[in-house]
Amino acid sequence: MTIRSSIKVQKINMEFIKVTENARPYVALIQLNRPKELNALNLQLMGEIRDTLKKLDENDEVRVVVITGNERAFAAGADIKQMAGKTAIDMLNIDQFSTWDQIRKTKKPIIAAVSGFALGGGCELAMTCDMIIASETAKFGQPEIKIGTMPGAGGTQRLTKALGKAKAMELVLTGDFLSAEDACSYGLVNRVVPVELYLEEAFRLAAKIAAMSPVGVKLAKESINRSYETHLDEGLHFERKNFYLTFASEDQKEGMNAFIEKRRPDFKGN
Ligand code: CAA
Repeated sequence: MTIRSSIKVQKINMEFIKVTENARPYVALIQLNRPKELNALNLQLMGEIRDTLKKLDENDEVRVVVITGNERAFAAGADIKQMAGKTAIDMLNIDQFSTWDQIRKTKKPIIAAVSGFALGGGCELAMTCDMIIASETAKFGQPEIKIGTMPGAGGTQRLTKALGKAKAMELVLTGDFLSAEDACSYGLVNRVVPVELYLEEAFRLAAKIAAMSPVGVKLAKESINRSYETHLDEGLHFERKNFYLTFASEDQKEGMNAFIEKRRPDFKGN
């Protein structure tokens, strides 16, 4: 690989993400930047990630992308405040997951560097990446059940593939969190490092991959995904429809409003 130490670091700030095109030689960094909201994934933020990944995929100076949040939160899920009042048909029409489908089509490898909360859509975003480096403080989970809905961006599919049916069922039906150490023992994450090292470790892994043949890397990623993603499309479609369906229930309204009003939800089953 050419030494490019003289090249100027190219930073782009968008509304909800910060992008450094050459954070390391041939490695780009996307940092989620809604710290007060624990990087809750609103539609705009997801759109910014999608557009950025598309550009980075076309940029020959980038071979690997790292996505991170901050020490407290990778992302605490889809933005509940943006969704709370929506109907099932609103959700169907908004079609937020088409953005996620585009992210999934990125050809270059993506590494999630996760510290703190990776919950709901945050856990799903990390799992949509190709590899995960976690800090000791990382907590993974799909707590949507606690707010009257269910995972909608691949959680029921990817968590089940990674953890097996019994553990995935427990996490999705209770909303309990999985520690970084347990996530590693199940193979959900590549490795766990002290909190001060998680981004550096992601860069280290990225640099190793960036030194390989970009063509080989792209084709190998595509091939692994082909093995991994057989039946995934059908599963994602099924999950998405059921996620939208929860928005036809009173329990979803009660669950999300209770979160916003900081009280316990009273679920009635309708
Ligand atoms: N959406 C919108 N806002 C969120 C959010 C989310 N997912 N998660 C946190 N926030 C906001 C909080 O409302 C709070 O804002 P205010 O200061 O304005 O009140 C701020 O971020 C800080 O959060 P907390 O005060 O709650 O922080 P905490 O340390 O007490 O708790 C937490 C942290 C356990 C992560 C808690 O915030 C939480 O439970 N968040 C929601 C997790 C969740 O349910 N995620 C799933 C979302 S649905 C989904 O993702 C669907 C899908 O599959 C696509």
